[in-house]
Amino acid sequence: MLDWTDRHCRYFHRQLSRGARLYTEMVTTGALLHGDQARHLDFDPAEHPVALQLGGSEPSDLAACARLAQRWGYAEVNLNCGCPSPRVQRGAFGACLMGEAALVRDCVAAMRDAVGDALPVTVKHRIGIDRIEDYGFMRDFVGTVAEGGCRLFIVHARNAWLDGLSPKDNREVPPLRYELVYQLKREFPSLGIVLNGGVRDDAAVREHLARVDGVMVGREAYQRPWWLASWDREHLGAAEGGPRSPEQVEAAMRAYCERMAQLGVPPFAVVRHMLGLWKGASGARLWRQALSEPRHRRLPADELFSIASQARLAA
Ligand SMILES: Cc1cc2nc3c(=O)[nH]c(=O)nc-3n(C[C@H](O)[C@H](O)[C@H](O)COP(=O)(O)O)c2cc1C
Repeated sequence: MLDWTDRHCRYFHRQLSRGARLYTEMVTTGALLHGDQARHLDFDPAEHPVALQLGGSEPSDLAACARLAQRWGYAEVNLNCGCPSPRVQRGAFGACLMGEAALVRDCVAAMRDAVGDALPVTVKHRIGIDRIEDYGFMRDFVGTVAEGGCRLFIVHARNAWLDGLSPKDNREVPPLRYELVYQLKREFPSLGIVLNGGVRDDAAVREHLARVDGVMVGREAYQRPWWLASWDREHLGAAEGGPRSPEQVEAAMRAYCERMAQLGVPPFAVVRHMLGLWKGASGARLWRQALSEPRHRRLPADELFSIASQARLAA
């Protein structure tokens, strides 16, 4: 998620779940091929498994970027066919690619040719674009793209309205239609189908996992990260696992902040992703306020975390 799931966020989430697959923000092929590759692609080995999400629509550029993903050691490379932002539409990629199934097939085929079986090439898309409500539109899109060698599809279970809705509204206003995603799995049993959109608790995860192969959680994971601490046990088949307490996660993140500080990364660049860690617990608001207080931005991590803990415990 843009501006959210950067490497610091992923390192934090990895402290909460060993097994969940984490995704980068969308990175455009232009940014990778003409920009600072290390800045976009470097990550800590502890974040694994991580998928790189690409935005683009030019097969040869995507192939070059898939090679970079392989060289950097990513576990998966994913093509964004779900982002509705006007900027992305002007670049002719993201959700508008759902209207160009043959091109997406060619993009996937070029990426697959570039990386072979070294890492899977996957696609994230919507159930439709604009007012196309017909299931057949998505079915034909998936059928065509599968011909290019994509075996795993992540489906955000609502349409993207390309005209007239902001990206934020496009994550809330078009209705969720999970039944279409279930139908997709029934129709393509040999493809991996991952459902995304509006999943906020364990009961919903279980309900979807009975019908599809996986669930992707976006906003709720970011805003209520402690939920991730139970995923390995609850949903990913681990006998045990997950941190015992938010304090344990805080300690790991304090050490990480100290390591990052030596590379010139200010603690707030890391802790801004952690503000929901204590959500629902007593003192959560004071802890969050202490971490985000502008006066505290220059403090070293150990002091910052101590002030936040004291504020929380005083509540
Ligand atoms: C701040 C923000 C940034 C996002 N950036 C991306 C992105 O870069 N790529 C992408 O595929 N989806 C992106 N999304 C959409 C989410 O991945 C997800 O599909 C959507 O929020 C629905 O899932 P949820 O209800 O679990 O959040 C973003 C969502 C948010 C809130």
